[in-house]
Amino acid sequence: MTITLDETHESEHEFARSSGLTGLTTGTLAAIRAAKPGYDVARGKRFLAFRERIATHLLRHRAIVANGYTAWFRQGTQNAAQLRDFIVQFSVFSNLFLIAQLHKMINADTLAGMRASKEILANEIGVTLRPGARAAAAPGRPAGDPGFIAAEGTVQGGTFRFEAAHFEWLLHAAEQVGLGFNELGRRRFGSRATLFFCDELTRLYGGEDYEVSQAASYAVENWAAAGFWKELIEGFRRYNEAHRMQIPLGFFIWHDRLEAQHAAHTQEELEDYYFHAPLDEDAFIRCGNEMLDGVAAFWDGLDAQRHVLAG
Ligand SMILES: [Fe+2]
Repeated sequence: MTITLDETHESEHEFARSSGLTGLTTGTLAAIRAAKPGYDVARGKRFLAFRERIATHLLRHRAIVANGYTAWFRQGTQNAAQLRDFIVQFSVFSNLFLIAQLHKMINADTLAGMRASKEILANEIGVTLRPGARAAAAPGRPAGDPGFIAAEGTVQGGTFRFEAAHFEWLLHAAEQVGLGFNELGRRRFGSRATLFFCDELTRLYGGEDYEVSQAASYAVENWAAAGFWKELIEGFRRYNEAHRMQIPLGFFIWHDRLEAQHAAHTQEELEDYYFHAPLDEDAFIRCGNEMLDGVAAFWDGLDAQRHVLAG
């Protein structure tokens, strides 16, 4: 008899209910049933309790649930100086993120981890992802237009194109508001708040201690999936409309698409991590919060500056 995928899911569901493990992903449930090393019912229950702690003491951080800056940005009422400041600070973050990502890659504790970090780094600097869902190329769009570059897949076998570097997408937007290459991306253009955030990324997300970097990664991923990309896109759309401009939004739209499908995997990743090695739960929550404090500092810096530039 062949067991279909649906039947498998049904039986995992039944198993989860009878063992008090509802909420675990099917992969983890199957591993517990198969008594894989590290997987058992007691640990499953401890994980569910840990997830509750994370929900309460990490994922409710104001950087995730109450971003006043992006809520304001979304309205599209910013003046040109405020919009330029946003693009400059974001370009600094975008570039200095490469340093944090490189540290993360170097400090990986497995080859698979190193490759996962390398994927992100290579993609950032211009290696397109494949295969995955590649939207049909619209005629007349330049090569490297994020509007038709896949937001899922792998860099393995992907093509490098200068134009596909995320920084270059942001440069296109910057040029529309009168900013040149020489006003973007470098450390010297970052505000104190932006640099604090970027340095925290290198220290925590790119940290040598694997547990610290895992906690920071988890925090950053949940922040990135929390919807701020959509608020930025909405703000740009409204700004474009109000000023009859055509600032290209590819940079923001692409990242939003990427996060939307990445969000689905964060729980699986956390479970994988939790069941594979003993974990200091307190340290995980503390480091995650430290990372989110850095994120909040970045948005707070932008928020303070937009008040300065309001007049
Ligand atoms: Fe990016």
